[in-house]
Amino acid sequence: MNIVPASQNSFSAAIALLKKNNLPTEDLDPGKQLFVVEEGDNVIATVAVEYNYTDALLRSLSVSPEKRNSGIGAELVQFIEDYVQKQGVQTVYLLTTTAADFFSKRGYTIIDRNNVPDFIKNTSEYSVICSSSSTIMKKELS
Ligand SMILES: CC(C)(COP(=O)(O)OP(=O)(O)OC[C@H]1O[C@@H](n2cnc3c(N)ncnc32)[C@H](O)[C@@H]1OP(=O)(O)O)[C@@H](O)C(=O)NCCC(=O)NCCS
Repeated sequence: MNIVPASQNSFSAAIALLKKNNLPTEDLDPGKQLFVVEEGDNVIATVAVEYNYTDALLRSLSVSPEKRNSGIGAELVQFIEDYVQKQGVQTVYLLTTTAADFFSKRGYTIIDRNNVPDFIKNTSEYSVICSSSSTIMKKELS
């Protein structure tokens, strides 16, 4: 599977897929690290990441409904983990209202809001967009 940075052409299709999945897009701009999986002219999956030296926020994971349950979501999570680990990141965080079970099968555990580092709290997804009812999860990369 080819996972590539969103291009000028694929960016708007990626935003459309995220909106279809009810995921926040307000703060995504071409400067953020958004990756896509393309099939022909279509974007069939997306994932994004924000990170500093030690912590990363995995976000914007979406797979188009007709392509689900074939391992694409899991592969995108693995891709981001490998990507940030190469940059020295030790811990990956995420917010979800819909897919906690999907992530717990992939080694993520639910954490308390008080245990979230400032870098994650200061991301716009955390601080502005995602509701206080989101579940926060984390995984230590080994
Ligand atoms: C969550 C999502 C990305 C999974 O993508 P996918 O390509 O279908 O996932 P995979 O094929 O790699 O994995 C499928 C497995 O995850 C499970 N799964 C899929 N979506 C799930 C969900 N929302 N909650 C719990 N489990 C889920 C499937 O039952 C399947 O389980 P199995 O391996 O035991 O059979 C996709 O369902 C999606 O885009 N959902 C809407 C957007 C969303 O909720 N994104 C997460 C926001 S952080």
